Amino acid sequence: MADAHRAARPVIVDCDPGHDDVFALWLAAAHPGLELLAVTTVGGNVPLAHTTHNARVALTVAGVAGVPVAAGAAGPIARELQTAEWIHGENGLGGPELPEPTVPLDPRSATELMADTLRAAAEPVTIVATGPITNVAVLLRDRPDAAARIREIVWMGGSTGRGNVTPYAEFNAWVDPEALAAVVASGIPFTMVGLNVTHTALVTPAVRARLASADTATAVFGGELLEFFCRTNDEVFGLPDGPLHDPVAVAAVAEPDVVARVRTRLDVELAGAETSGATCVDLDGVLGREPNAWVATGLDVDRFWDSIAAAIARLR
Ligand code: RIB
Ligand code: CA
Repeated sequence: MADAHRAARPVIVDCDPGHDDVFALWLAAAHPGLELLAVTTVGGNVPLAHTTHNARVALTVAGVAGVPVAAGAAGPIARELQTAEWIHGENGLGGPELPEPTVPLDPRSATELMADTLRAAAEPVTIVATGPITNVAVLLRDRPDAAARIREIVWMGGSTGRGNVTPYAEFNAWVDPEALAAVVASGIPFTMVGLNVTHTALVTPAVRARLASADTATAVFGGELLEFFCRTNDEVFGLPDGPLHDPVAVAAVAEPDVVARVRTRLDVELAGAETSGATCVDLDGVLGREPNAWVATGLDVDRFWDSIAAAIARLR
């Protein structure tokens, strides 16, 4: 949804809805600084059939039309899929009753839709990935010509500290570390928005009340999502104010200075018996390796929630 007063930045969102992915999609669709060109889905929080259906539901609820949605990889490039129903529920969007989506499924694969979108765009496009980054790795492997059309990749995942699915691995990185390593190695500008930052985007009762105050279909649906998401985060992590991870990555593109970030070295652990999927961020440069990524280190939390509330108010 472009704003007439400023050039909107074209984005593709690749996601695995998932409660927080829904808010990422809504922010991408409604922020005046962004133009959502396409949505692709990946197996992650729940299997691909659910994440794809859920992406279509998210756009349907919000009244977002004309944005193609295509299904991508059912699982990681070199491992079996591991899912997260314990946070998101069996269908991936536990809580509300899901309406039948009116947003159609694009017949192309995620790779084809991404490649077509990149080729047709008037300028290089930013890819915001909020799940296991398998689809982007497949795109770069199968369509190497696409790389030149990508402005940057901004990914919600990883952590400069502890993990959330093992002591040292965050879920999106843990599901497909080989894809993450390949994308980072591609040399395309890459920003990691990890748990160290997204764990400050807490859905407090005041945030829930604010987001529900829009009193629209989107706000009501979002409120039911957040009630479930906060409950499961409390049950699993003892976090009653669930961290809304994925829209932070979108906000980092829509309003780049809403996050603090540093240029540093990011390596991905692939073989560790206990540390597979760990994002090894050399913040102090002790390894002396060439920096290869931007890593988010802080979030302007109030401004972040302002952007989420404004986006929801712009939707149906
Ligand atoms: O670790 C948090 C990430 O894993 C988020 O993207 C959430 O949706 C899940 O995919
Ligand atoms: Ca996600």
